[in-house]
Amino acid sequence: MSSTRRFVVIGHPVSHSLSPQIHARFASATGIALEYTTLLAPLGEFDASARRFFAGGGSGANVTLPFKIDALRFADEVSTRARLAGAANVLTSLEGRIAADNTDGAGLVADLTRNLGLDLRGKRVLLVGAGGAARGVIAPLLAQAPASLVVANRTLERADGLACEFAVLGPIRASALEAIEGAPFDLVLNATSTSTKGESLELPRGTLAPGATVYDMAYGEPAHAFLERSRKLGARASDGLGMLVEQAAEAFEAWHGRRPDTAPVLAALRATR
Ligand code: ATR
Repeated sequence: MSSTRRFVVIGHPVSHSLSPQIHARFASATGIALEYTTLLAPLGEFDASARRFFAGGGSGANVTLPFKIDALRFADEVSTRARLAGAANVLTSLEGRIAADNTDGAGLVADLTRNLGLDLRGKRVLLVGAGGAARGVIAPLLAQAPASLVVANRTLERADGLACEFAVLGPIRASALEAIEGAPFDLVLNATSTSTKGESLELPRGTLAPGATVYDMAYGEPAHAFLERSRKLGARASDGLGMLVEQAAEAFEAWHGRRPDTAPVLAALRATR
């Protein structure tokens, strides 16, 4: 008996998630049958919700806030990139064992290099923020061989911690947020929670090199104010919608063995937002 494989995105809240729409678009473009829905897990009950889903025959889950660390702990096997990120956004059932992966960093790098056409080799990159979102993208960014990756954070100790931890992977260092060292930068990534919380993030004068790109890992309306200010400083600016679509494509390929074309999906999402 053949049955359609089932997938979910688990989060709290989760009704806003674009993942069901993205995976449905990939599925119809590739001709792959699947069911993909949202799963709202009560706070503190990630394990029970995930266990029930997989015990009921679920094939795979994307995991969003605030459960990405719970997802890593829940899994029986953890990929290297999920371990380095300290969090998982993909869980896959492999004959009863649950494997964790993290496609966020690969999604960011794919958006930067393929969709925005950036070559990060030899570039000066500034990562603002030192929380979970920042941690998840450090290893994939360093793998692009930038000249330097500076992690600037309001709380310097957290940036210091990340710089120490990832120093073996490349030229990373920490900086305070008020007086960022190593400027000007070719690429500035906002990995703080300021945009999603509706708070303001000001880049100090002299942060941007001519022709710099500023990228907010948040997407849509919440990212507008920061990106608009960056454009006024002369930067090319992008929100994180492409990162969302690309991380989904990585998961889709792992689950279905087919790499979907992301450009039409990204264009369709932009057109409806
Ligand atoms: P996430 O998992 O989304 O990264 P987090 O771990 O709570 O969330 O981290 C939030 C990040 O945004 C941190 O780097 C935080 O700085 P602190 O480490 O100093 O708290 C940063 N952040 C949040 N609000 C900020 C603000 N108003 N200005 C500057 N940075 C801010």
